[in-house]
Amino acid sequence: MSSISKISETFSPEMEGKSVTLRGWLYRTRTGGGGKMVFAVLRDSSGIIQATVKKENVDDKSFKNASEAYVESSVILSGTVKKDERAPGGYEIQVSSFETVCRGEPFPVAKDLSDEFLLDIRHLWIRSQKVTRILKIRSTMVQAIHEFFQKRSYYLFDPPIISPNACEGKMTLFEVNYFGEKKYLTQSWQLYAEAAIFSLEKIYDVSPTFRAEKSRTARHLAEFWMAEMEAAWMELDEVTEVAKDEVKFIVEKVLEKHEEDLKFLGRDVDKLKKAVAKPFPTITYTEALKILKEKEGVEMQWGEDLRTLEEEKLMKHFDTPIVVTNYPVEIMSFYKPRDPKDPKTALCFDMLAPEGFGEIVGGSQRSTDMKDIIERIEKEGGKPEDYKWYLELRKYGSVPHSGYGVGVERMVRWICGLDDIKDSIAFPRTLTRCYP
Ligand code: 4AD
Ligand code: MG
Repeated sequence: MSSISKISETFSPEMEGKSVTLRGWLYRTRTGGGGKMVFAVLRDSSGIIQATVKKENVDDKSFKNASEAYVESSVILSGTVKKDERAPGGYEIQVSSFETVCRGEPFPVAKDLSDEFLLDIRHLWIRSQKVTRILKIRSTMVQAIHEFFQKRSYYLFDPPIISPNACEGKMTLFEVNYFGEKKYLTQSWQLYAEAAIFSLEKIYDVSPTFRAEKSRTARHLAEFWMAEMEAAWMELDEVTEVAKDEVKFIVEKVLEKHEEDLKFLGRDVDKLKKAVAKPFPTITYTEALKILKEKEGVEMQWGEDLRTLEEEKLMKHFDTPIVVTNYPVEIMSFYKPRDPKDPKTALCFDMLAPEGFGEIVGGSQRSTDMKDIIERIEKEGGKPEDYKWYLELRKYGSVPHSGYGVGVERMVRWICGLDDIKDSIAFPRTLTRCYP
């Protein structure tokens, strides 16, 4: 057998007239020419190409294989590359041999394409052009995150996944039976990252995160990936700039490589380009309330959290992501310090994406005030003794430090312009779904 090419490699003028062998799966197939031709479309991870099988050009076995193959049968075929303006990619294969690796059964993706049905057959649906392209974009994004931090001399630090502590509130903890004791799946690497900065100073990771989110929304998963960073000697004003640079870097990398994929997904690429062409503004929570009141007529009580609805209304006034700082201390986790200049607010931030995609990043400076932390753990219904190890970090060489987490699926959703976050991950886990 001659060496195997990827489909995308055949899309070039130099390949015209050359013989190639391709392998993959049938994307579409139909017979024509009074039963003397098969028009197959082959796909592999790199793309799709039309393959024309003429009875007169192949032996009987090949023609039988081609005629009987189903959508998603796996095949290896050889033939000559020919220019064809009408074909996807601009080229087609004139097939000379057609071998079936696994004919299988008729593929079940037929007419009923309801969201629930596609989620039930997610193990098969991830082969679709839509999901394949999203997964490629996601791969580029995660690679960009590594590149961003490695270039800035951050170390990759891997946290534990099973934890004795809550980081983001007890309400969303997933319990694990840990040799007869109650432990939890991680809600964030943060508490461990705060220990690790005393060793590595500047760290990042991309890792699985778990929250028993009890609500069904287009932006919550029960299992998601968070790309987090933590740095010693860093305060709020600096960490928000790192977050802005990171988000911009990720979007630029995706635009560089995936403009065609984004267009296939129906994404308005110009909006995305515009979103990263300008600096991202920083406003405070209090200023956000003012915008909501003056421009949207939304009256919020100072102290209430911004919900999806309010975030959407606020973001009507911005076409780039924005950073919102200084949320009320009362609604913030125990580790977010009071702002000495405005102690009813915390030195914390969220980054909100434009076009109604909402929060994509959450972070803060970290409190080093042991007394305040203990009081607030108690207020959240936690036991300070469970956090003994964490509190000890404040005893030995404590320094100002900050960090944040980027929701990987939230970023995929925004960048790809997806209606629902479930499409931003291969196998979504939600309140109502843990299958397949
Ligand atoms: O804002 P969050 O809860 O912040 C933290 O967990 C901090 N401990 C991070 C840190 O400072 N190191 O979560 C961070 C981001 C959110 O902005 C959002 O993008 C994403 O994680 N996220 C979710 N994504 C999908 N499904 C969920 N249920 C999510 N919860 C948070
Ligand atoms: Mg948050």
